[in-house]
Amino acid sequence: MVSKTMEELVSLCKRRGFIFQTNDIYGGMKGLYDYGPMGVELKNNLKQSWWKSMVYERDDIEGLDATILTAPKVLKYSGHEETFTDPLVDCKSCKSRWTSDQLINKTCPNCKSKDLTDPRPFNLMFKTSIGPVEDENTFAYLRPETAQQIFANFKNILDSTNRTVPFGIAQVGKAFRNEITPRNFIFRVREFEQMELEFFVEPGSDEKWHKYWVEARYNWWIKQGINAERLELEEVKKNDLSHYSKSTTDIMYKFPHGNEELEGIANRTDFDLGSHTKNQDDFNITSKVNINEDSTTKLAVQNLENKSWFIPYVIEPSAGVERGVLALLNEAYKEEKIDNNNSRIVLNLKPHLSPIKAAVIPLKRNNDQLVSQAKSIKSVLQKIGLGRVILENSGNIGKNYRRHDEIGTPMCITVDFETLENKSVTIRDRDTMKQERLNLNELIKFYQKYFE
Ligand code: GAP
Repeated sequence: MVSKTMEELVSLCKRRGFIFQTNDIYGGMKGLYDYGPMGVELKNNLKQSWWKSMVYERDDIEGLDATILTAPKVLKYSGHEETFTDPLVDCKSCKSRWTSDQLINKTCPNCKSKDLTDPRPFNLMFKTSIGPVEDENTFAYLRPETAQQIFANFKNILDSTNRTVPFGIAQVGKAFRNEITPRNFIFRVREFEQMELEFFVEPGSDEKWHKYWVEARYNWWIKQGINAERLELEEVKKNDLSHYSKSTTDIMYKFPHGNEELEGIANRTDFDLGSHTKNQDDFNITSKVNINEDSTTKLAVQNLENKSWFIPYVIEPSAGVERGVLALLNEAYKEEKIDNNNSRIVLNLKPHLSPIKAAVIPLKRNNDQLVSQAKSIKSVLQKIGLGRVILENSGNIGKNYRRHDEIGTPMCITVDFETLENKSVTIRDRDTMKQERLNLNELIKFYQKYFE
């Protein structure tokens, strides 16, 4: 296997319809990407796998899909208006713009000048206006994390589901950050998706639950096909913790450009619910919160034994979908020698993540009998509901195999003249490239086995 570079991944993504730069017909926009026919499937499959493991396979987590537009008060009391900033530095010589941590010995990485402005805080939140009049009272933020909408819905969910701690609320959705220097393809972008869980627990049990979620999330990434050799847990240093966190463990991954955060698991204590609750003085809030005179709702739960009310602590595993996609592509991308003269690129994604689950290929293009048989196989497999099954009516088997290797389709099914005679098809496996003949009445079972 030849080791891959970011350029190889970017090239595959464009060539095979995974990821395109946004608005490239007008020169593109920095830090913004679109997901093409293969990308949208891969992304959806990753999100679905997360949702399944969080919501369907457990009995202590509820789902939520809240709005992106967020009331300024939510992001005032969450601390984002004040602290969600990056220190911005301008190079007076070449006019480039950097965050302080990108400078090398207080020198511009571009032109090496030391003639720089003092760092000044730059808030990363995007604003937009609501309604026809634009003024200070009509704006909203595009949420910078999905988490705050979970906290704002805490009481709604508690009341409508009769939950008590420990329990969690899961959400997958867009988040927006006006990153000063978006970079490394989809690693740091301005519009992205997060898969976030806020897991509410009794104060005092928070450290135990923090450990539990770090382990659970690490193991989940391994199940998605990430090699443990490229994963690492890193305790965030006290000075680098976000304003809400008592302790955070990052799951680091060796991306093509370096070892960086894939997911963070934070102990957010009672900071968020304590910040957004009304009657703060009624509770023993342990974290430092701003006085809230605007909230209309008590964000607390009752101790069922002594009937006292308390603000739960929260443990938050927060993963980026884009970073997940990049890590999965990096893991799956292989260039293999087939023989002395030929090589192939193959994406050996786990089948549950593959954009296309199976390709059905009639041997001869536009041959009515073969195409009709292939269509009927496609339709039967599609109905099983494991994801997209595709009919490839191009007549070029070799080209089809190459394309499906590159997009990670686990199996190709070829329909030929023998199929019409004895109801058998050829199955070609992506990873071994082995072909075997299978009777159609065994096909469904065989297909389902790939996804167990
Ligand atoms: N709610 C907690 C939170 O938002 P974070 O560490 O700022 O914490 C969580 O973000 C995850 O979101 C990160 O681990 C990363 O995967 C993803 N993420 C954050 N900023 C991103 C960006 N600009 N581009 C792509 N993904 C990003």
